[in-house]
Amino acid sequence: MDMLKAVESKNFAHFESEALLEDGDLEIDSRGREVPRQRNVFKRLCRVCTGAIVVLVIIGYIPLLHYVALKQETVQFSWNVNQSRNVSSYIMPQKNTAIIPNGNLCKTALPYILVIVPSAVSEIDARLAIRDTWGSAFKNSSYNGHNLVLAFIVGRPLNSSLESRIIAENNAFNDIIQEDFIDTYENLTLKSVMLLKWADTYCKGAEFVLKIDDDVYLDLDNLLNLLNMYGKKRLIGGSLFCNAAPIRSQSSKWYCPKHIFPGSVYPPYVSGTTYVMSGDIIHSLYETALSTPLVHLEDVFLTGIVAQKLNIFPVHFSLINHGKVELRACEYKKHVTVHDVQPSEMRFIWSESRLPAVSCATPDFKKMKVTGCNKGVSKLTKLKAIKKHRSAIRK
Ligand SMILES: *[C@@H]1O[C@H](CO)[C@@H](O)[C@H](O)[C@H]1NC(C)=O
Ligand SMILES: *[C@@H]1O[C@H](CO)[C@@H](O)[C@H](O)[C@H]1NC(C)=O
Ligand SMILES: *[C@@H]1O[C@H](CO)[C@@H](O)[C@H](O)[C@H]1NC(C)=O
Ligand SMILES: *[C@@H]1O[C@H](CO)[C@@H](O)[C@H](O)[C@H]1NC(C)=O
Ligand SMILES: *[C@@H]1O[C@H](CO)[C@@H](O)[C@H](O)[C@H]1NC(C)=O
Repeated sequence: MDMLKAVESKNFAHFESEALLEDGDLEIDSRGREVPRQRNVFKRLCRVCTGAIVVLVIIGYIPLLHYVALKQETVQFSWNVNQSRNVSSYIMPQKNTAIIPNGNLCKTALPYILVIVPSAVSEIDARLAIRDTWGSAFKNSSYNGHNLVLAFIVGRPLNSSLESRIIAENNAFNDIIQEDFIDTYENLTLKSVMLLKWADTYCKGAEFVLKIDDDVYLDLDNLLNLLNMYGKKRLIGGSLFCNAAPIRSQSSKWYCPKHIFPGSVYPPYVSGTTYVMSGDIIHSLYETALSTPLVHLEDVFLTGIVAQKLNIFPVHFSLINHGKVELRACEYKKHVTVHDVQPSEMRFIWSESRLPAVSCATPDFKKMKVTGCNKGVSKLTKLKAIKKHRSAIRK
């Protein structure tokens, strides 16, 4: 998203400099002085003609432009000014809203990492691919001595014929949480807050909670190493955006009108594709989210606005990648997560990485960059604090 902004502002700069250079009303005469440009009659006539044509074209286009503008306005942005943004009224904290609760997932033992994958009801292939690949390690009761839990979270499908399919899928795998809200892209913030509600209700005490999208590949060994070295209390870690500006263009996927967020920059936040939270902040994130007016961009809302209210500063884990990488096992082995991975690609990488002949260099976690957005706290201080915490854990 910030990349997009950068490209846009580059284009603007380009336009501006062109506009400055375009002024051609002066020319240099034989003595080197600037004088008004000489024009012959023919050139002038030409100018008048071109001008007339331009005016005619513009007049002709006005109704069309108007029509296009109208058409854009009719593309409904669902969080319009009249839509309630009272998070509490959607989440209903007093009520057990789970349609499929799977409340036993953390009963046998509290997990070191609770992984919850927000998923659309229809994304059956993506869920199957995760279960068959990186998610398969979660079926074992423990992995390298760590207890792990994996679940998917969905809402209510708009098309009720999908409901029986999600019930059947859960009967087969027992790993689906279904909450009571309409499952649409526009409602992703509700999904993330429901994720916190579930974690706070059924899995209190998990050391870490990882929110990871269903098109993200996870290297579990790297995640465990990352948390072992940089895990701490009051942690929100991921791919960090600093000083990102709201996009006011309605055609953007990340459109955010002023009535939702009037400011000119978002608080620091991490990409929603993957973020890890320490278990100690789940309850306060949840409670604070309930009383914060909803922003439909879930990552901006939870890891930015809500976290800021709690004085939690999200940090950048350079190995949590929100972009795509080359489809080779050893490229994936360099990261904790890789985004934008199709189910078939997930299977391909998984099977390739498990061939006995493939041995990849693993990342040097000591050299990994962990930085904040630098608001008042220097990067160095942050790193020191993290290192201190690490040695405290080791003791
Ligand atoms: C919001 O409500 C007001 C008053 O009921 C109405 O005039 C306006 O058209 C509504 N706006 C939208 C975007 O629905
Ligand atoms: C939000 O909704 C809840 C429950 O419906 C209600 O108790 C609360 O007063 C509302 N908050 C605001 C600010 O309107
Ligand atoms: C799960 O445990 C079995 C038996 O101990 C083991 O063979 C398998 O490799 C484990 N799976 C993963 C993904 O670690
Ligand atoms: C609902 O889903 C079913 C099965 O996937 C499909 O046949 C039907 O056309 C869908 N209905 C609507 C209104 O989209
Ligand atoms: C979001 O979910 C709420 C609660 O289920 C529902 O009332 C609303 O229509 C949904 N909005 C969209 C845009 O899907």
